[in-house]
Amino acid sequence: MTVKSEIKRRRTFGIIAHPDAGKTTLTEKLLLFGGAIQEAGAVKNNKVKKGATSDFMEIERQRGISVATSVLAFEYEGFKINILDTPGHKDFAEDTFRTLTAVDSVIVVVDVAKGVEEQTEKLVEVCRMRNIPMIIFINKLDREGRDAFDLLDEIEQKLQLRVTPLSFPIGMGYDFKGIYNVWEKNINLFSGDSRKNIEETIEIEDLSSTELDDLVGEKAANTLREELELVHEVYPDFNQEEYLNGELQPVFFGSALNNFGVRELLDCFVEIAPTPRPKESSTRVVYPDEKDFSGFVFKIHANMDPKHRDRLAFIKIVSGVFERNSPYLHVRNGKKMKFSSPNAFFAEKKQIVDVSYPGDIVGLHDTGNFKIGDTLTEGEEMHYKGIPSFSPEHFKYINNADPMKSKQLEKGIDQLMDEGVAQLFTLELNGRKVIGTVGALQFEVIQYRLEHEYGAKCSYENLNVHKACWVEAKDPKSAEFADFKRVKAKFLAKDKRSQLVFFADSSFTLQMTQSKYPNVKLHFVSEFE
Ligand code: G4P
Repeated sequence: MTVKSEIKRRRTFGIIAHPDAGKTTLTEKLLLFGGAIQEAGAVKNNKVKKGATSDFMEIERQRGISVATSVLAFEYEGFKINILDTPGHKDFAEDTFRTLTAVDSVIVVVDVAKGVEEQTEKLVEVCRMRNIPMIIFINKLDREGRDAFDLLDEIEQKLQLRVTPLSFPIGMGYDFKGIYNVWEKNINLFSGDSRKNIEETIEIEDLSSTELDDLVGEKAANTLREELELVHEVYPDFNQEEYLNGELQPVFFGSALNNFGVRELLDCFVEIAPTPRPKESSTRVVYPDEKDFSGFVFKIHANMDPKHRDRLAFIKIVSGVFERNSPYLHVRNGKKMKFSSPNAFFAEKKQIVDVSYPGDIVGLHDTGNFKIGDTLTEGEEMHYKGIPSFSPEHFKYINNADPMKSKQLEKGIDQLMDEGVAQLFTLELNGRKVIGTVGALQFEVIQYRLEHEYGAKCSYENLNVHKACWVEAKDPKSAEFADFKRVKAKFLAKDKRSQLVFFADSSFTLQMTQSKYPNVKLHFVSEFE
């Protein structure tokens, strides 16, 4: 197969959802279709329920086996599909945001009863800003839920999307009879008794025929006819280009648990979803079909095997062919590196691969060379953009609780920060170290991991900071900037890249500071150009 055709058959995407909407269940059913797993229950649900740290620790403990869930690859009808895992829990949102830089499209799962929830809103906003193509799957149709039109309205308003249903439910919950597939013009009947696997698909070319009444009953048939007419009047026709530009979002209905409507979703997905997309770098836009390999690190997973203290850096291949044992330039530190055992990920295992193509994810063993956002090329001096750090919202001083282990503590903190678990700041005034995180759960995770992976102990002290902002002076030599630095000396720190950061203790301070120093810009993400 040529490189072009390898690119053409790849679909790399993420499933995003508020916890409990059914992301894990849907992932599992997709894998079943791909023959990647043999039975339900094989995919580890790595969600953290209700913020319980113990759940997270359990996940950590199981990491050796569950790591495959970071990336799940499978073959379906000639397509190579890569699903990237995106944690739904809000404390891990940063991890999800970063993963979204590596997907070419997403499927958004919405619970039919709960509608659009908080995390969905945040994640969709990120996708919308990046024009990532989205397909929406409304799940749990076997349960009593909200009216389909209501939900579509809510999706349009809360998520600011323009939707078009490509399937439509016939009844719901107790009365759920099946789904009309607008895309394929057929009906899928839901059999309440078997409720599992085998789906019967019946072609219906003409909705006015009495065949429909025979299938679902006269009342449901009439309702469906009326509703489809309304769909036709109210929603735009599907247009692939608009979908690919992030301007139109097709919607499917189904029940992941009952494996209902999932094949329809998958069949449409492989047909319309984008092949690996071009990506902007510091110097130019890079296209997948370019000859030279390039890729970037979007995730680092630590200590998968407790016996070997190493990490796995996940690289999304943007262009060219990645080959085992070829020398590639690690752009940030200017070194050439070779990788003798790059991993690819399948549903239940990882395996060493010789070549990988754009859209694929490879896992490279790392002894501390990589940071999130690092770029590999065949020699070109450029780096991929758009993996910023986000303004943390929780802050604590971190202290060494075991003076004999200060080296271990330093190394542990260093590596956890490279992984993107949290951010470390050093106060300008007194050199004290401050940990900033997006979610509160991270503090316990850091403490636990420092102890269990590095043999170091830390303690925390509260610090009253509302937000940390990256500082950019229009003119670093100006009197205004000098005044800013003098007046705010107590609230200034450096991040790991030695960029200046301002700790605002309230949103009021933030506003006041910004208006008092108009030529000192305060940014909420670390990457601004
Ligand atoms: P998540 O990854 O998005 O957090 O959700 P997950 O798939 O774990 O699903 C959350 C719960 O919703 C699970 O139940 C799952 O069985 C259920 N679920 C998923 N899809 C459907 C569906 O189509 N219909 C119905 N009725 N339920 C669905 P749970 O009780 O929390 O977990 P479990 O013990 O069943 O695994």
